[in-house]
Amino acid sequence: MTNIANHAKVADEMILVLDFGGQYNQLIARRVREDHVYCEVHPSTLSLDAIREMAPKGIILTGGPNSVYKKDSVTCSPELFKLGIPVLGICYGSQLMAHLLGGKVETAPTSEYGKTEVEIDAPDSLLLSGVDHPTICWMSHTDYIAAVPEGFRVTAHTPVCPVAAMENASRKLYATQFHPEVLHTVQGKLMLKNFVYNVCGCQGTWQMGDFVQKTITALREKIGTGRALCALSGGVDSSVAAVLLSKAIGKQLTCVFVDHGLLRKDEGDQVAAVFGPEGTYDLNFVRVNAKDRFYTALKGVTEPERKRKIIGEEFIRVFEAEAKKIGAVDYLVQGTIYPDVIESGLGNSATIKSHHNVGGLPDYVDFKEIVEPLRLLFKDEVREVGRELGLPDYLVNRQPFPGPGLGIRIIGEVTEEKVKIVQDADAIYREEVAKSGVSAKLGQYFAALTNMRSVGVMGDGRTYDYAIALRAVLTSDFMTAESAQLPWDVLQRTTSRIVNEVKGVNRVLYDCTGKPPATIEFE
Ligand code: XMP
Repeated sequence: MTNIANHAKVADEMILVLDFGGQYNQLIARRVREDHVYCEVHPSTLSLDAIREMAPKGIILTGGPNSVYKKDSVTCSPELFKLGIPVLGICYGSQLMAHLLGGKVETAPTSEYGKTEVEIDAPDSLLLSGVDHPTICWMSHTDYIAAVPEGFRVTAHTPVCPVAAMENASRKLYATQFHPEVLHTVQGKLMLKNFVYNVCGCQGTWQMGDFVQKTITALREKIGTGRALCALSGGVDSSVAAVLLSKAIGKQLTCVFVDHGLLRKDEGDQVAAVFGPEGTYDLNFVRVNAKDRFYTALKGVTEPERKRKIIGEEFIRVFEAEAKKIGAVDYLVQGTIYPDVIESGLGNSATIKSHHNVGGLPDYVDFKEIVEPLRLLFKDEVREVGRELGLPDYLVNRQPFPGPGLGIRIIGEVTEEKVKIVQDADAIYREEVAKSGVSAKLGQYFAALTNMRSVGVMGDGRTYDYAIALRAVLTSDFMTAESAQLPWDVLQRTTSRIVNEVKGVNRVLYDCTGKPPATIEFE
């Protein structure tokens, strides 16, 4: 596997985040990038040599669940603080800085969780420059710094936390017990900006237009006259990856769009309209209609994980066959994005569902290399690149759609009849939500087909039909979510249209469950 993108190729300056297991490490990187400074998250075990080679302009140590005084807690080398690179320690990172440099960390007599009023003791601090006194910050800690290391001064405190912030400005070492990356820290964005610009001296060169140009040049160098294949799903990531590649290598790229018959209503045609011969881009576009193959493979299967595995595997087989037809393809293009990289590289979590993502194919066919041009970008950056590349708004702003498609929004066996029901109900729901103007606030919303049939009355007759479930969630990271309170009139209009217009449905339910305990998708 190759990383076409590495930071030296795409950014002149970077901030390194060392992850100690904090919940908000991705947020730190996003906040820094919002300030136009490129930022990468790496495990806390990254070697000093690797850090020297990366030559970051600054290093941020994240929070984490450990206590620095426990024996096997994650730590870092004290030499890190002697590299001459500015360091900002956050929460656990601040305690680690204090501990390794000779300060004292203890269990706090009173833990602090949530929004806390913080008194600024040093308004002349570069980190706290322009911050109100007092200011509201997000605290979440059971340990605290009881005594700062020699050469440090206290720059902020709370009634129960004597060191809410500390610094040794001459060594460019800064620390906050609170979390500046969390929006509840009202001026956290300003503090991070102060660190990145005032302390680290960054210029703010991370711009998506530059990224596009640099990536296109790097892709051209890498692929030369070779041929590449892209699995295009019509989702944001694979669409942006395809267009970037096509700008770099033109007709040396072939995009394969597998229509598995589990797409949303008219979606296949919409994707073909943008990328096919009539579309805006001059691409080698292959649309494979594999509906029958998928429906046959799914016949009689009701267990969710089996459904997912079958859909994933069929997809690969179809894709493999197409790749063979094209022949002599060296590079496989994937739309992997940065959260996938961070999660697969750093996380250690249980499998709740085996995700199938057309942007996440294994290297099953004999490709020389895998090319992932978006592996350094967050989702909102991918969307920005999409806009730079002229992709239509409705594609750029599309809500996520899972690789197994409607297959996991139909509980129980998937049949052609059920796919049609859920497609039609979902199209009505999306139309009504879009008309109401609330869609921009929602993380994801869709209709699913329950496996439940119930009795109803229509005209003067009895019906025994399916129940549709509507779901709408508020989420920014899709790891947790809460059910959205949709306006009642939107739900009523949608319900009445679904039961009137979709044959086979006589009841509509609204899913009020958050994640956890439920997941966003039904299977
Ligand atoms: P869950 O259902 O796990 O979903 O709460 C979280 C987010 O992931 C999407 N999702 C998938 N995306 N392949 C994908 O590409 C998959 O197999 C898959 N399963 C769930 C889901 O739509 C939501 O945005």
